[in-house]
Amino acid sequence: MCGIVGYIGTQTAKEILLAGLERLEYRGYDSAGIATVVDGKIHSIRSKGKLHKLREKAEKELILSKAGIGHTRWATHGKPEEHNAHPHMDNNNRIAVVQNGIIENYQNLKEKLSSKGYQFLSETDTEVIPNLIADLLPSPNSDTDLIYPSPLFKAVLESIKLLDGAFAMAIISSDYPDELMVVRQQAPIVLGFGQGEFFCASDVTALVPYTSTVLSLENGEIARLTPLGVEIYDFSGHRLKKIPHLLDWNPMSVEKQGFRHYMLKEIYEQPSVVRNCLEKYINKDWNPNKNLNCNPINLNLSPELYENLEQINILACGTSWHASLVGRYLLEKLANIPTRVQYASEFRYAPSPITANTLTIGVTQSGETADTLAALETEKQRRKDTNSIYKSRLIGITNRPETTLATIVDQIIDTQAGIEIGVAATKTFLAQLMAFYFLAIDLGYRRQTLSGGEIQLIIDGFRQLPEKIEEILKTQERRIQELAHNYLEAKDFIFVGRGINFPIALEGALKLKEISYIHAEGYPAGELKHGPIALLDSKVTVVSIAMAGKVYDKAISNAQEAKARDAHLIGVVSTNDTNATLTFDDLLPIPEVDELLSPMLTVIPLQILSYHIAAKRGLDVDQPRNLAKSVTVE
Ligand code: AGP
Repeated sequence: MCGIVGYIGTQTAKEILLAGLERLEYRGYDSAGIATVVDGKIHSIRSKGKLHKLREKAEKELILSKAGIGHTRWATHGKPEEHNAHPHMDNNNRIAVVQNGIIENYQNLKEKLSSKGYQFLSETDTEVIPNLIADLLPSPNSDTDLIYPSPLFKAVLESIKLLDGAFAMAIISSDYPDELMVVRQQAPIVLGFGQGEFFCASDVTALVPYTSTVLSLENGEIARLTPLGVEIYDFSGHRLKKIPHLLDWNPMSVEKQGFRHYMLKEIYEQPSVVRNCLEKYINKDWNPNKNLNCNPINLNLSPELYENLEQINILACGTSWHASLVGRYLLEKLANIPTRVQYASEFRYAPSPITANTLTIGVTQSGETADTLAALETEKQRRKDTNSIYKSRLIGITNRPETTLATIVDQIIDTQAGIEIGVAATKTFLAQLMAFYFLAIDLGYRRQTLSGGEIQLIIDGFRQLPEKIEEILKTQERRIQELAHNYLEAKDFIFVGRGINFPIALEGALKLKEISYIHAEGYPAGELKHGPIALLDSKVTVVSIAMAGKVYDKAISNAQEAKARDAHLIGVVSTNDTNATLTFDDLLPIPEVDELLSPMLTVIPLQILSYHIAAKRGLDVDQPRNLAKSVTVE
């Protein structure tokens, strides 16, 4: 939530800050602002609404400052109004702060500062920070304390020790115009290193056009950026030696490349995501007939993670949770290993009983979801001092291996999907499914629950998937775009699926509601008759996933039950299902596929349908209201 950017160097800061914020807008977009130092004073421009409003305001002004900070907000404390937008200033306009996170003890700090005469102009938790720093900052002419690199550094350091919560922030001061302070405590922030210029941002996406030399700050670290370089310290004030690394990102990956929305671009990237995963994880030497000692899947996980494995526990939120439900199905069916999937947001406060020889998997596309990271930390902590059979074994499944997730888990499975910008997850969901297929096959091979022949059949099926997805995109996207017209005024959708496609029903419903704001629910098809069927009438649309396989007949019966209650029926069916028109009013046909692999295809037309309904309703598909791509608050 919220995007932060900071710059100090040789160029004019304004444009770099605005461009950086535009690349971070997916993190929050209800208001925005920038602050620079002009003529010895903090100059700030803030605006309610999306970033283009801020740009319009900023473009009217000539600001030549070479350092500054910026923020795009996802409101936590205080409505999305201009007076709550960041940067926040102290009462004397000497300090400006942008913050991502929550200061949990801000009320208490506010009372203390108020008793000293400080006044507050916003309802935010952040506004206490500049005032705290100002309160501790000596006047520019006082003696310098030589233990610290600068008085500003000292005041920031002393202030952050008073804060409870999870936060990342950037700070400038009119008294120290050649310094930019950056702090991290449980919320992401990365530094960028250029030639005589230095950056900070909530995500590397903002830095990609300027530099590929980056360094993620860790929790409890504070950085001092000046035009001469970067110094990093811990919260005790000890200087740390840290080495930046090179990012091998193509700047084009964060462009729309001719698509109207990132979401559509990301839907179209799915065939290549599947190809990349196959290339990366299927062992080229695998041959079931020749070499039975060669593992078909190459996830490069250390052997201790597999040893005496008795159970798997998966922690995730939202779409990643849906992918995990498919994962459970696969791990139990292919590797015969009991698997539990829990909402990370629930786990922290209601953890399941601790079990022996358990592999815990955190699944998150952003790698920064606060609920998921906190759940993984909880799991790690509670197993820390236990007997070896209870020791934690943690892996993360993500497309962002450079994020905080990697600092918590033992190993990462990189889903190879790259960055996703549209708030609605599409390609990252498919890539998470792939990771689970591969893990299940890997475990099935090791535990000998799958024969070489069975594994080969799955792999052969996988190799056909990229072309099948391309076929859906080529033959169905236009058709679904036209079909979407019929649903623009729809009020209620119910998505149903059975077995391995039940999570796809949940995902279809989530996609539709989050971007089109149409009410949608997902159910196991067999559960309709246990309650939700009471909702059905001619105004409700039921989307039924009815793929050939062992649940097909039951899925059709459940669809017929809905039809008998006058519901409008859409069927996700195989192209060769010639009877489908007897049941369904509209079809979303997909190429024939084995039931086990079908989620890799059934989700695609549901993504496309949601996309076109939302786009035709004139909504901001990539930045739906109230949401953010990276949910870094609990
Ligand atoms: C997906 O379309 C949603 N925007 C949301 O549910 C998301 O999946 C959830 O917030 C979890 O995010 P993560 O995968 O980055 O952890």
